[in-house]
Amino acid sequence: MTDSEGHDGAGESGDEGVVRRERFSGGPAREFLSSLSADERIFAADLAVDRAHVVMLAEQGIVGDETAGEILRALDEIEDAGHSSLPDGEDVHEAIETAVIDRVGPEGGRMHTARSRNDEVATCIRCRLREDALDLIETVVEAREQMLEVAAAHDETVMPGYTHLQPAQPTTVGHWLCSYESALARDTARLLDTYERINQSPLGGAAFAGTPFDIDRERTADLLGFNGLVENAMDGASARDFLVETTAAVTGLATTLSGLAEDMVTFANRGHVEIADEYASTSSIMPQKKNPDTLELVRGRTGDTTAGLNGLLTTLKGLPRAYNRDLQRAGSHAWDAIDSVTASTEVAVGAVVTAEWPEEELAEAAGDGFSTATGVADRLAQAGLPFRTAHEVVARAGETADPGIDAIEDAVEAELGQSLDDVADREAIEAALDPVESVRMRDSRGGPAPETLCAHLDRARDNLDEDQSALADRRDSLAAAESTLDSEVDTYV
Ligand code: ARG
Repeated sequence: MTDSEGHDGAGESGDEGVVRRERFSGGPAREFLSSLSADERIFAADLAVDRAHVVMLAEQGIVGDETAGEILRALDEIEDAGHSSLPDGEDVHEAIETAVIDRVGPEGGRMHTARSRNDEVATCIRCRLREDALDLIETVVEAREQMLEVAAAHDETVMPGYTHLQPAQPTTVGHWLCSYESALARDTARLLDTYERINQSPLGGAAFAGTPFDIDRERTADLLGFNGLVENAMDGASARDFLVETTAAVTGLATTLSGLAEDMVTFANRGHVEIADEYASTSSIMPQKKNPDTLELVRGRTGDTTAGLNGLLTTLKGLPRAYNRDLQRAGSHAWDAIDSVTASTEVAVGAVVTAEWPEEELAEAAGDGFSTATGVADRLAQAGLPFRTAHEVVARAGETADPGIDAIEDAVEAELGQSLDDVADREAIEAALDPVESVRMRDSRGGPAPETLCAHLDRARDNLDEDQSALADRRDSLAAAESTLDSEVDTYV
């Protein structure tokens, strides 16, 4: 047997596992068939799945306690030696089984009783993905916490707000930040929701058709911290929709981040924000340049997740029941997507929370492009004019070189044949021309008025607390299962 990827040869053990492997996967396609190298990601998960399965087999009297102890001891040694010490094999499942048989002898072959690699790999992927999903949720939750802090500090920092990239209405840095925190809260909710469907156990479904052995699937599910079963054995071996929804949630998150990154790039370009040096890059030729490269990469990395989602769906499309080897190519799309977006979240939020917001320049720019026009029209309408009429009056004022109070006065006269004082409170109109007042007057729920924003911040923090405890609950229940499994294993070892 030849080695590859730094794995030790299985040696001349002559057991059935080795013979089978040489018969079916020793040819020119050996490397093509093998997922062993990529399976490093599920090495720890596979050991946990093996342990839970062996404990259950012993409890059910399917494997003797002594054999169970020997297998479990071998698994400990294999864990200590690490993935790179595994013998060659088609995948991590086969390699670990070979390594067990190498240590225990043919009795080690009892480990694979009443299961298949089909239910095994599906279980391993779920075990690993739920950890990655929780890590990502933690990253997003921490990002939101930091964003809310910066938003609270800038609840009165007036800045221009844009639609179609044109100045639209003044808002605040806090309001802008909260808009992204709200989106990230929904991204978190989607990840927490998908977690519930990742965290179901297909183990014990065997190849797809169950087993005559009197196994206890609930027991292995509990030992592995799953919250239930994928009951139908054929479904359990086939289903990868949990990968689809996780990758879709991840792609949604990446899309949120791409907008945040793009806003930061355009704000930096307009001088609305000063990105910290550690999140910027320079040019190799133009010494004066400070470019927002980290944020451009966040924007660009959206391609990684979108590609992952496309790749995954294309791999899965039209696959017949139950197991087909195409499935070996499914996991990497999800792994790449989740790794990419985890890094993007950290960098995007790092860049945002370390940035400086030049308050004077922002206040100056907040009124550019007659951005207070809507507030003036609103005040005229509040004084009794139909909104459309008010809109026309202000539009006329906006066509002049200096659309201030005089221009509005002229426009009222031209459009309505009345003086401004007859139709509205002149002081209120003048005040509405000021960006600070323009922000303050928009105090409807969800608006940028500082008090309104503060009330929103309270609700956002409550929502964040709930997500933090949902995360902690899930982590606790995985940790509890892990320690139960450890102590069950100890009774045999
Ligand atoms: N390496 C395979 C995978 O990742 C494991 C399952 C192999 N099963 C089989 N029937 N060939 O999907």
